[in-house]
Amino acid sequence: QILPVILAGGTGSRLWPLSREQYPKQFLALQPAENPSIASSSFPVSMLQQTLHRLAELDALSPLVICQEDHRFLAAEQLRYCASQPGHLLLEPQGRNTAPAIALAALLAQESPDCLSLEDSDPLLLVLAADHLILDTAAFTQAVRTALPLADSGKLVTFGIPPQSPETGYGYIKRGAALGTGFDVAQFVEKPDLNTAREYLVSGHYYWNSGMFLFRASAYLQQLSQFRPDILAACRQSVASPERDRDFIRIDSSAFAGCPAESIDYAVMEKTRQAVMVPMEAGWSDVGAWSSLWDLSSKDAASNVVIGDVLTAQSHHCYLRADSRLVATVGLDNVVVIETKDAVLVAAKDKVQDVKEIVAQLKAAQ
Ligand code: GDD
Ligand code: MG
Repeated sequence: QILPVILAGGTGSRLWPLSREQYPKQFLALQPAENPSIASSSFPVSMLQQTLHRLAELDALSPLVICQEDHRFLAAEQLRYCASQPGHLLLEPQGRNTAPAIALAALLAQESPDCLSLEDSDPLLLVLAADHLILDTAAFTQAVRTALPLADSGKLVTFGIPPQSPETGYGYIKRGAALGTGFDVAQFVEKPDLNTAREYLVSGHYYWNSGMFLFRASAYLQQLSQFRPDILAACRQSVASPERDRDFIRIDSSAFAGCPAESIDYAVMEKTRQAVMVPMEAGWSDVGAWSSLWDLSSKDAASNVVIGDVLTAQSHHCYLRADSRLVATVGLDNVVVIETKDAVLVAAKDKVQDVKEIVAQLKAAQ
């Protein structure tokens, strides 16, 4: 039995000003959508909803979506409009990054299977980010099926993406010897510096970590207990008596407040010897920043991506989006302009990773 665990608690700060604290990236409908039949339906489909649709062919259990308490109505509304089976919503009082979020899911399955209507208290957790784009759903489904026997045997499967550039925002997996239906993980390095990423790319031995995983709840908890018993203990205390209120599942907020914040990549994947990798070539993108949306979108004759009421002259390779007013550019190359009602971003396209600096300044000023 596969229990999809959808991580939807991030902030998506690099996509400001569209992605906001109250309305982060995973709840937005960003173009392009991965499935034209969904995209052309009458209401826009968010990244979270696309993630749920992608599960259709997998014959999985009702998904468990984990998000912040603040976003519960947004998440509940989006779940209602798309899941064929009602999903469960686990609410985090505050974000503690992905290692704790996944631990909550694993512990809930093991210790309160009724809460999730589970028959098996040690399901396979298919951990997915709520904010990725995957153009080829069939290839995604196939990769998950390929990973099943490995996860069944107690391995922690990560899905590896053949890398295209020396991205420093990703984890890197060095492919080891063939093992069953996948490969041993010879090395896992989370977010290397640029020179290291370049070496990895040139070597041809490395894959990007997709941030999607498949493992038994017990296998993850076992590894977490070995490397981060502090995180496990705080999470165990937090879900000791979960409260179910309609679709929402709530945990002990003071226990969770004491949990250290860490990603699964640093907490477990870099350290474990149980990791294996299954390659996935499915048109995957993290859609992390405006430049990746430019890469993915269809462009006009001057290689501009134009959304909304936009006029251009002598402008090339730009990403231009107008939500509430006319936007016009003259003589601009490789520039991103995002116009919204209350904020306008103008940025060099090769610097858009640093939009998060603006978000940090806004936070500091609050
Ligand atoms: N529930 C919950 N709680 N979800 C969270 C939290 C949290 O505290 N923090 C992040 N998430 C969600 C995000 O919404 C996203 O869907 C996913 O977990 C991954 O978090 P990111 O913050 O986007 O991670 P990243 O992109 O920096 O790095 C991860 O993904 C890369 C691929 O996109 C790592 O796994 C990298 O190794 C990987 O290459
Ligand atoms: Mg991400």
